[in-house]
Amino acid sequence: MSANETNTEAKKRILSGIQPTGTFTLGNYIGAIRNWAKLQDDFECLYMIADLHALTVRQVPAELRAHTREAAAMLLAAGINPAESILFVQSHVPAHTQLNWILCCNSQFGELSRMTQFKDKSAKHPDNVNGGLFTYPALMAADILIYNADLVPVGQDQTQHLELSRTVANRFNNLYSPTFHMPEGYITKEGAKIMSLVDPTKKMSKSDPNVNSFILMNDDKDTIIRKFKRAVTDSDGIVRYDAAEKPGISNLMCIYNIFTGKDMEAIEKEFAGKGYSDFKLAVGEAVADALAPIQGEYARYLADKKYVDEVLKDGAEKASYLANRMMSKVYKKVGLLQI
Ligand code: TRP
Repeated sequence: MSANETNTEAKKRILSGIQPTGTFTLGNYIGAIRNWAKLQDDFECLYMIADLHALTVRQVPAELRAHTREAAAMLLAAGINPAESILFVQSHVPAHTQLNWILCCNSQFGELSRMTQFKDKSAKHPDNVNGGLFTYPALMAADILIYNADLVPVGQDQTQHLELSRTVANRFNNLYSPTFHMPEGYITKEGAKIMSLVDPTKKMSKSDPNVNSFILMNDDKDTIIRKFKRAVTDSDGIVRYDAAEKPGISNLMCIYNIFTGKDMEAIEKEFAGKGYSDFKLAVGEAVADALAPIQGEYARYLADKKYVDEVLKDGAEKASYLANRMMSKVYKKVGLLQI
């Protein structure tokens, strides 16, 4: 039996989400989106644009709306295939917020208070420590549990939230009766975390005020090469992988490895006796060449809003069907009157 003849029933279900916070970075692409596309053949995948989670920090309404469609266009451009996977927007499936409430009532103040993301974000936005920020993990648990997802691809920064989803699922199952699957994290080995080009000890993030610290998915070739040329490295001039001592060069080597398939040893050989500037140029070119076709597709999807919206509508319908079934089960179990 060939790989694509495998029985669908046996396929595990994957759910993941990404916030529509403007153009994605190379870090988002390497750490999440690229893998989402790869998982489609082996799993039954649901991919969600987490617009409700985005509201936990202040948004400009028109921008959030635009970013949501742009996120969908980028996911399609990066290879998410709506014929294979369910691609949808979180707020288009109201059942997520319904389950969110039930799970809020089954999450403890102490548990939510211990979430490091809550603590970090509260410190970052002291003027807007809102209830949604606090109960963020309960909504994320709802996203996952409402589909009985088996596997949840998440970055390191979300593993604590995933653990809370398991705690809450377990509590609910024990209190009522077995209802939710226990979701597992799905962490890919390499390239899970791409670091800032300016401070390689920090994660690459679009919220960094220095635009040279990140590559955006729609940066043009010149910009990409310029940013890599300026990347902070070290002064010993040898292209060698050593994440602790040479975090800048090691980060660039990871990126080069991902786009060329060359392993660390091969990269070290290729640039033996050459300076950092040759290496940085090569990394920049490899990234620009890899992103070019995605950028082309992205422009094409963005120009065809009707198609993108149809994909999202279809995705929301399919997701709602699954989510609503779970919701009526849950409402019944907790004792809400159904007439
Ligand atoms: N909180 C995730 C992030 O910011 C996005 C997200 C929302 C998510 N719901 C999810 C990820 C469910 C995985 C599963 O990265």
